[in-house]
Amino acid sequence: MQKGLLGIAELSRGEIEEILSRARDFQPPPRQSFKRFDTLRGRMIVNVFFEASTRTRTSFEIAAKRLGADTLSITASGSSVSKGESLVDTLNTLGAMRPDAIVMRHSASGAPQFLSRYLPIPIVNAGDGTHEHPTQALLDARTILDRRATLEGLRIAIIGDIAHSRVARSNIYLLSKFGVSIVLCGPASLLPRDMAAIAPGVELTTDMRKAIRDADVIMMLRVQLERQNEASFPSNEYFQFFGLRPEHVQLAKPNVIVMHPGPINRGREISSEVADSQRSAILNQVENGIAVRMAVLEKVLAP
Ligand code: NCD
Repeated sequence: MQKGLLGIAELSRGEIEEILSRARDFQPPPRQSFKRFDTLRGRMIVNVFFEASTRTRTSFEIAAKRLGADTLSITASGSSVSKGESLVDTLNTLGAMRPDAIVMRHSASGAPQFLSRYLPIPIVNAGDGTHEHPTQALLDARTILDRRATLEGLRIAIIGDIAHSRVARSNIYLLSKFGVSIVLCGPASLLPRDMAAIAPGVELTTDMRKAIRDADVIMMLRVQLERQNEASFPSNEYFQFFGLRPEHVQLAKPNVIVMHPGPINRGREISSEVADSQRSAILNQVENGIAVRMAVLEKVLAP
């Protein structure tokens, strides 16, 4: 990872295992706060977020601070400038600040890859368009592994707006490297045709009950309305067909883990009863975001 972390696709299974195991060292014991480290003292990490973010931006900031680095966050809400202009501007502005690493979120797929070709510092992708969100997939894997001995052989259902989800894509790349049996479920218009190329053997279905039956993990996704041009998205019917409710959870394994990257839309893709239930690991995912991002920042920046 000389050049930072751009996607899960380019990581080997060994590199993923190394990050997940280092993240475990950074997890605080229950009800204790995170320990502080000095590893990145004197280093400057700039977070540039061209898209809205609560969890990812704050946890990257906290992770950097816990490692002793200085951080600065730049947020550009909405992207009124054109893709080309904004990236060139970003490049020049950021280069002039001489940071040691850049964490970047952008609505254009490929933006962090573009930046990494021009700047000689590590770039960490915090979500690029519909392409990848590598640290989300890593924290999801950490969350599952806190509850299961191995990923191998698990049945994981990913449900919702698969087509526009960088979270789904990064998870599919990761889980398919670990022998997980993956089932993708959503309305036909949101089930991508190119998935077979990413992960052969992945199952596609529009039937939520079929997807959930015997699942070890249910990963729900937010409907990415901001990435959809189709005016005809059936939002009223969505919950009826693809909203996760207690009766669905009954079909899964008794100790099923319910996950969602956030932000959750209660009553659209998940009911409050399920989101707030014992089976839900949603807040553990948020918490693990810090430990995993500490492991990633350490790996890309430590000498
Ligand atoms: C996700 C994202 O931005 O891709 N959020 C997150 O980082 N936790 C998912 C989403 O916005 O639906």
